Amino acid sequence: MKVTIVGAGAVGASCAEYVAIKNFASEVVLLDIKEGYAEGKAMDLMQTATLNGFDTKITGSTNDYSKTADSDIAVITSGIPRKPGMTREELIGINAGIVKEVSSNLIKHSPNVTLIVVSNPMDTMTYLVHKTTGLPKNKIIGMGGALDSARFKYRLSEALECPPSDVDGMVIGGHSDTGMVPLTRLATRNSVPVTAFLSEDRLNQVAEDTKVGGATLTKLLGTSAWYAPGAAVSGLVQAIACDQKKMFPCSALLEGEYGLSDLCIGVPAILGKDGLEKIVELQLDDAEISKMKESAEGVKKTNGLLDV
Ligand code: NAI
Repeated sequence: MKVTIVGAGAVGASCAEYVAIKNFASEVVLLDIKEGYAEGKAMDLMQTATLNGFDTKITGSTNDYSKTADSDIAVITSGIPRKPGMTREELIGINAGIVKEVSSNLIKHSPNVTLIVVSNPMDTMTYLVHKTTGLPKNKIIGMGGALDSARFKYRLSEALECPPSDVDGMVIGGHSDTGMVPLTRLATRNSVPVTAFLSEDRLNQVAEDTKVGGATLTKLLGTSAWYAPGAAVSGLVQAIACDQKKMFPCSALLEGEYGLSDLCIGVPAILGKDGLEKIVELQLDDAEISKMKESAEGVKKTNGLLDV
């Protein structure tokens, strides 16, 4: 199983580390445009192999896509991250060109690859890859909801004063401060609805904290986060590589599901060896449907800025 990660920056390197530590891939190739950067990150990570007990071979490449040939899965994290006060949408000008070029180079050397798009604005970048590459729709997946859901569960566990592993919950919709739809009604603590423990006001606060989860970290760190994003991407990579049939909210191309079409937005999806194998349609209530519609309008507005 060969995994390529384009962009050896904060998120790309974190993802490489989690993939290696989970020890399911034979090879990880890190590729970056910055001279020597991916090679350096790969060497540093390889020097953790005996410490962390993994056998995955990690190599680096400065923009030589022949090194990525025959990758089964490729992750796109190349591009600029936001700075404090910026929205993800503001990154579109620079990142669209990078994502278009990177995805085309990847496919030239790995025509059967499954692509996981991470660069922001992620839903729009995922849509761009659908519009420009001709890959089948199950082979293009945007990562956002897996991270947003992890942040949601963290905030819920804080409010419930319980371990995060006792909590389950999901965020669907667009991967933006205003577009996320945390499904508080469906969230549970050890299978019991969280509505049994938390007031509506407290749950609304959890939802709001979740939506600005990335912005909160960007303010603290001076740039966007990397541990949870890297871990979330590695979860998607593992689900596909190991044919786990696991469900994650992913940005998928919709063709009528949830009453929406011609956009990529976060919906629950089953991931396995064929990539995004199935979109799961939840029974949403009226309030959730209207939030999802509003979120889709926001994503479509950003998509309108693309030159496709
Ligand atoms: P970073 O700046 O640490 O790393 C980006 C890397 O991409 C740099 O090393 C840069 O040299 C490289 N790069 C730029 N152009 C390239 C090209 N044409 N070919 C190959 N490499 C190229 O940024 P970070 O923090 O890793 O974030 C990466 C992207 O991921 C950003 O757009 C950020 O907004 C996004 N992101 C998305 C998340 C999500 O949930 N979807 C979560 C966190 C970040």
